[in-house]
Order: sequence, then C-alpha cells, then structure tokens
Amino acid sequence: MSVVGARPNFMKIAPFIRSIKTYSSRNDIEIKHILVHTGQHYDIRMSEAFFSELEIPDPDINLEIGSGSHAEQLGYTMIAFEKVLAEEMPDWVVVVGDVNATLACSVIAKRNNIKVCHIEAGLRSGDMSMPEEINRLVTDRLSDLLMTPDLLSSENLRKEGTSDEKIHFVGNIMIDTLEANKQKASGLSLDKIITNNLALGSISSGNIPKDNGYAVLTLHRPSNVDKEEVFAPLIEFLLTEASKDLTLIWPIHPRARKQLKTLHLWDRVINHPSLILLEPLGYHEMLRLNMGAKIMLTDSGGLQEECCVLGTPCLTLRWNTERPVTLRENGGASVLVGNNIERIRKEYFHTLNLNREPSRPELWDGHTAERIIRIIAESNREVF
Ligand code: UD1
Repeated sequence: MSVVGARPNFMKIAPFIRSIKTYSSRNDIEIKHILVHTGQHYDIRMSEAFFSELEIPDPDINLEIGSGSHAEQLGYTMIAFEKVLAEEMPDWVVVVGDVNATLACSVIAKRNNIKVCHIEAGLRSGDMSMPEEINRLVTDRLSDLLMTPDLLSSENLRKEGTSDEKIHFVGNIMIDTLEANKQKASGLSLDKIITNNLALGSISSGNIPKDNGYAVLTLHRPSNVDKEEVFAPLIEFLLTEASKDLTLIWPIHPRARKQLKTLHLWDRVINHPSLILLEPLGYHEMLRLNMGAKIMLTDSGGLQEECCVLGTPCLTLRWNTERPVTLRENGGASVLVGNNIERIRKEYFHTLNLNREPSRPELWDGHTAERIIRIIAESNREVF
C-alpha cells in the first residue's frame, strides 16, 4: 500500500507505481498494490490534475481529510488510515516525502505491526520549526526500509543510529519523473502556459516574456508568507527592484494567495505590469517554465532539486535546506538567501549574470523507482 496526501507526493509516487508493474511482469510475480490518498490537497489544480498528467491510477481509497490545523490533519488521517489498514492488512506501507500524510500513516502502520518503507529518507534541515522536519524525523525513526536520495542523507541516518541494513542509497525519485516528462514539457508553448493559467484578468502578447527573459517565483512556507514583517518587504523588493530586469512569473499557492489578501498586499500584486500571477500549474507546465527561466526564486524543496538537474540558477528563500547537494558550494545550482532583503538583493543581481549549469548528483539517473521496488521485493522474500 502506498500513501499520498499533498502535491509534492504525486511526482514521487508516479514512478514507484509504474515500477511495480514492470517488476511484477519481468519477474512473473503478482504484487497487489493499493493507493491511498489522504486528501490533504484536494483542489483540482493541487491534486487531480497531477494524477491525469502523470498517469497515476485513481486512488483506491481517498480519506478526504482536507485542510485544518496540523493536529486535525494528523489526527483525522490516523483515525481513517487505521480503519483502512484493518480492512486491507498490507505487507508494506510505502510513504514518500515529508508531509503530514507521511507522518500520520507511518505511525499508524507501525502501531499495527505493518512494515514501513520511506522514500526520500534521511533529509535533515536541522530546523525544528519546520513541520516537515518533525515529519521526517519520526517517519525515519519508525521505518524498516529507508530509501535515501544521496549519500549525505544516508550519513544523517547513520549518525542518528539507524542500522546499516535498513539504509539504501537509491537516488532521487523526483528525477525519475523529470526524466520521463522533460521531452513533453519542452514542447509546451510559454505563451499558452501563461494565457491559459492567468490568476485573473488578461495579458497582451507584448507583455509575455521570452525564454531567459523571466524569473519564476514560488512561495508557500509559513515562515515566508504568514508574517507581515517578512512577506511585505519581500513583495516590495520583488515589485520595485527584481521586476526591473526580468518579468516575474508567480504560480501562486493557495496559502500565499490567502495571505496576500489578509495582509492587504493583493491589490499591489495584481496591478503590477511586470508581475504575472498564475494559478497553481501542472507538472509539465511548471517544468517548462523552469527550463526557460533565467532565475528561480523559491522556498520549495522539489524545485531546488529540479533546478540542480536543469541548471537553473536558484535563490532558495530559506535559511537552511534539507537538500544540501543542490547548493552551489556542492556543485548544484542554488544558494540560500533566507528572507533578508539585503541578502536576497545581493544574490539576485549577482545571479542575473550567471548561466545555466546543469549538474547531476550520483544516482539521479531516472532509475530510482526500479531500485526501490527490487529492494522491497527482495527484503519481503527474506522475511517469509
Ligand atoms: C503542504 C506540506 C508541505 C508541502 C506543501 C506543498 C505539510 C506539513 N506541509 O503544505 O510540506 O511543501 O504541501 O504544497 O504537510 N489549500 C487549498 N487547496 C488545497 C490544499 C490546501 O486551498 O487543495 C489551502 C488551505 O487554505 C490550507 C492551505 O492551503 O489551509 C495550506 O494547505 P496545507 O495542506 O495545510 O499545507 P501546505 O502549505 O500546502
């Protein structure tokens, strides 16, 4: 049984489910797979759209948890997931990433003596104010198989006392999805992506930027959008300085949209000639935007990794990252700029002069899911 809940889970589960089919037919064995969606993300653009474009089968079970406080999301997920486990009794529960679904379902699986495999294990930001860091720590502590995307993550687990036989360095499953979809994405027209997804109003063709003539912005972390003293100066910098050199394209997360309205920044943002506000985009559309961007400004984890492989210079609007292999100092494309405007300004203008430099950490080769299913199947054989 595998579990998804929120947007960044979908691109991780797609290759995993595909690899179950390939592995079963190659090895002539039957693996029954059940997909559970906790329903943490439920808007069409945040969820359903990814199922169709990444060809993920419809979830067998949807817990329909929806939005709420962390306690509500975790608690309702646990209650509903326990019933699912009682009914289905899977041999394995496979969880991905670090969202609330990952934590809730791994805890309940272990409480019911079901084995847990965590894909994307061992990432550590060291920042306990991030809900995701707590989700990662608990999930990894409980998991029977820990699939790490890089050697630094394997090392993190070892330092915490995880035994070696549980840790498997398999590479980054996000990159399986990138490799499988980059050709399709590169064929998309920038003009169409923009005109089809405008968050409001219309745009004249003269205002649509060309490749290399725009920056992409994404923001959704509470640490950036929840506090006025952080969000307002950031918006001011983007509108009055960053947008002078490049058009800014901002596919907007529901949390950021809500906060712009609450903090009375919405009117400022929608009336700016060099800022294009878009609805949340699909996977291919976002990948296409990334491929043509001069700069990425983001607080997302997945985008840091995609920028690394595509070479897009990336300003990570955070003070720490659980993905240090993506940093420039380690050969990647991103630099941590936090939310200090001085620092963002300095790096932004420096980065304007940089060129695209792709780099590929070890085993980010598009075959991670194949390695994962083989390890699960082999360890299952040992158990029986
Ligand atoms: C969650 C994940 C985060 C991930 C992010 C990607 C956790 C702790 N956080 O954060 O790691 O990077 O997803 O998006 O699991 N909303 C909608 N429609 C939806 C879903 C949410 O409008 O389909 C709105 C709701 O107002 C909600 C807010 O967005 O309150 C935040 O959603 P939530 O699921 O609580 O967390 P994210 O910030 O999306």
